[in-house]
Amino acid sequence: MIKKEQVRVIKGLLDHLDNKTNVKAEGMIKNPADTYTSEDRFQNEWNNFFLEHPQIIGLSGDLPNKGSFMTTDDFGVPILATRDANGEFKCFVNVCTHRGVIVESARRGEKEKFSCPFHGWTFNNQGSLIGYPKPDHFGEIDKSCYGLKQLPCVEKHGFLFVHPKENGVIDTQDLLGDKLIEEMDSWGFKDLVLTQEEEYVTDMNWKLAIDTFGETYHFSTLHKDTLFESFYGNVQMFDTFKRNARLSLCKRQIEDLRTTPEKDWDVRIGSLPVYFLFPNIIVNVLEGGIIVVKEYPLENSPHKSVSKVSFYFTPEAIEYINGLKKENASEENFNPYIAFGEIIRDEDYVAAAASHKGLRSGKIDHILFGKNEPALHHYHNTFREALNLEPISLIKSK
Ligand code: FES
Ligand SMILES: [Fe+2]
Repeated sequence: MIKKEQVRVIKGLLDHLDNKTNVKAEGMIKNPADTYTSEDRFQNEWNNFFLEHPQIIGLSGDLPNKGSFMTTDDFGVPILATRDANGEFKCFVNVCTHRGVIVESARRGEKEKFSCPFHGWTFNNQGSLIGYPKPDHFGEIDKSCYGLKQLPCVEKHGFLFVHPKENGVIDTQDLLGDKLIEEMDSWGFKDLVLTQEEEYVTDMNWKLAIDTFGETYHFSTLHKDTLFESFYGNVQMFDTFKRNARLSLCKRQIEDLRTTPEKDWDVRIGSLPVYFLFPNIIVNVLEGGIIVVKEYPLENSPHKSVSKVSFYFTPEAIEYINGLKKENASEENFNPYIAFGEIIRDEDYVAAAASHKGLRSGKIDHILFGKNEPALHHYHNTFREALNLEPISLIKSK
């Protein structure tokens, strides 16, 4: 984040603390219950946001070396992503051109050739079919017609984008806009190293998972023994970037900045910036790295979703964590990542799953987002706009 913006965010948070205020929308909105429970709405989202929209599948650090690969199968098309000998990021449909079997089933690794487990057709990391067993028995084929299907993909601003459609367009300028691009580049995401991945399957609509990141009104209750110890609840700054947004949370450590010269301020001391990248990506920016949460529907259902959590750190932060691990060698299962994962799994998603159950009961027709929850207003209306639905109007409130 550029320095001027860091200072504006910190000053805004301090101002809210001093005046006992919070960022506010002009009113409240009623989000209809069927946003989360309707099969029709879900199909509409699945087609528009997942099958037809560019997807962020990870960061540059997911493919650290020439010869690295990763696979995903989260948005309808099985994907094999590679970094070829030239260091270029490539994406293919992970489906064998012989009889349709998934070619590579490992989540990630280092491999330059991929052999299909069924009959052994072999593809290189540029997708070309380089050989198949017993051609004299099988018959002669034009290998150039049987490469893995390539998908449009782009590596920019530290992110790996892929389009699930062969003729899809990925215009990162259009997706993010100049201001957010400048901000993403300033964080240096491209140099981060992937250190850990977790996933949580929950009986809730995929958007309910996102909603738990969209406000800090709940910190003093749901997280009173965890996050509330290090964050002020109900104090935020909020900014939008086209369909994307940034919610800046307020750390208690912000108090240190009151006596620090402004030129030495780092926004991450006093705040946790949380980006919402349309449609389903949440990026939490920490001092030594980031935690990316990707939310996907499961089983083609509005009622089930998976949260994929990836931790990326700077090489310096990793060195520091490894030092801590050594010092704590006697402590079994020392894991610096577990706290964040446990909190969202055991607190946020438990509450969100209960909310989903309540919504499914059909006994309430809407849920209410307060003036102090502008992120929820923004991205729910953004989802609606993207689906050609009328925006939800504000209920004015003082
Ligand atoms: S299905 Fe892949 S080699 Fe036969
Ligand atoms: Fe939470």
